[in-house]
Amino acid sequence: MRVGVLTGGGDCPGLNAVIRAVVRKGVTQYAAEFVGFCDGWRGPLENDARPLGVAEVRGILPRGGTILGSSRTNPFAVEGGVEQIKDNLTSHGCDALIAIGGEDTLGVATRLADLGVAVVGVPKTIDNDLSGTDFTFGFDTAVNIATEAIDRLHTTAESHHRVLVVEVMGRHAGWIALHSGLAGGANIILIPERPFDIDKVCAQVESRFATHYSPIIVVSEGALPAEGPMTTHNGDLDAFGHVRLGGIGERLASEIEGRTGKEARAVVLGHVQRGGTPSAFDRWLATRFGLHAITAVQDGDFGTMMALRGTDIVRVPLSEGTGELKLVSPELYAEAEVFFG
Ligand code: F6P
Repeated sequence: MRVGVLTGGGDCPGLNAVIRAVVRKGVTQYAAEFVGFCDGWRGPLENDARPLGVAEVRGILPRGGTILGSSRTNPFAVEGGVEQIKDNLTSHGCDALIAIGGEDTLGVATRLADLGVAVVGVPKTIDNDLSGTDFTFGFDTAVNIATEAIDRLHTTAESHHRVLVVEVMGRHAGWIALHSGLAGGANIILIPERPFDIDKVCAQVESRFATHYSPIIVVSEGALPAEGPMTTHNGDLDAFGHVRLGGIGERLASEIEGRTGKEARAVVLGHVQRGGTPSAFDRWLATRFGLHAITAVQDGDFGTMMALRGTDIVRVPLSEGTGELKLVSPELYAEAEVFFG
């Protein structure tokens, strides 16, 4: 069999580990051949492909990023895009496609599967907001990076009696903020799922200073004040209609400084959370997703996505992963609130 592989959306530590596992198991156990499509859905759309064999995946397990490149190309936004993809898969002799991606990339995979394309999905996102799976790979690495940053920021905040606002990624879901904030002992965690009250945040800042500690606030890039949005993006939309976020940390710091008179600075972690070597957990999860994905292809079990349930890897319908985002529940957030202020 001949199998196409692509990685789409924001890159994420562990993508190369999936590619390696797919190819290694595919070649040794199923005598499969592979085609690497470049830059997400742009590859099969524009017929941009490269060889993908055991030689190409050697040494990539600990490497961040993706050897196949990534993009946010949406073939459904291109006239005749679906037909182009089908034609290009046929011209490469592909019997199936493994799509490794988040809500957008796998959303496209879901629609293509409905249109008869033989596709299997592997969930990835540092945001951990895909449903159907307990975790996506990349998330653990991002949380570790954010936690280390918070640990470091505590001591400098205390030395200067400052508020430090740490802006982490998370467009719709506050998983990175919640996990790193809890692990790093943040004094306030603000997430997209729970619009925040700026007066309450300022009161918590002041109460923290009253106990002679300097507050660390972790805020997801997608968090919003209850009283209406602070302007935090330039209005540009990507091919899936998402605005580019960023800026809530700066706005929050200046608002806090203005209202409390305490010096407040923002630290934006940005793409540092996505780059570099994956954690051991992410390598383990990504490798197992890859091993199970190629077996799903061998079994002809198309339209499915690999998912982690407990310690088992299971197959779920692609639509289960992409139908609805997995958000932080009020109960989980309430656990963290014990430490606020
Ligand atoms: O989807 C993952 C993610 O890292 C989000 O947390 C973030 O909003 C977005 O990608 C940013 O992506 P980029 O800067 O690559 O467009």
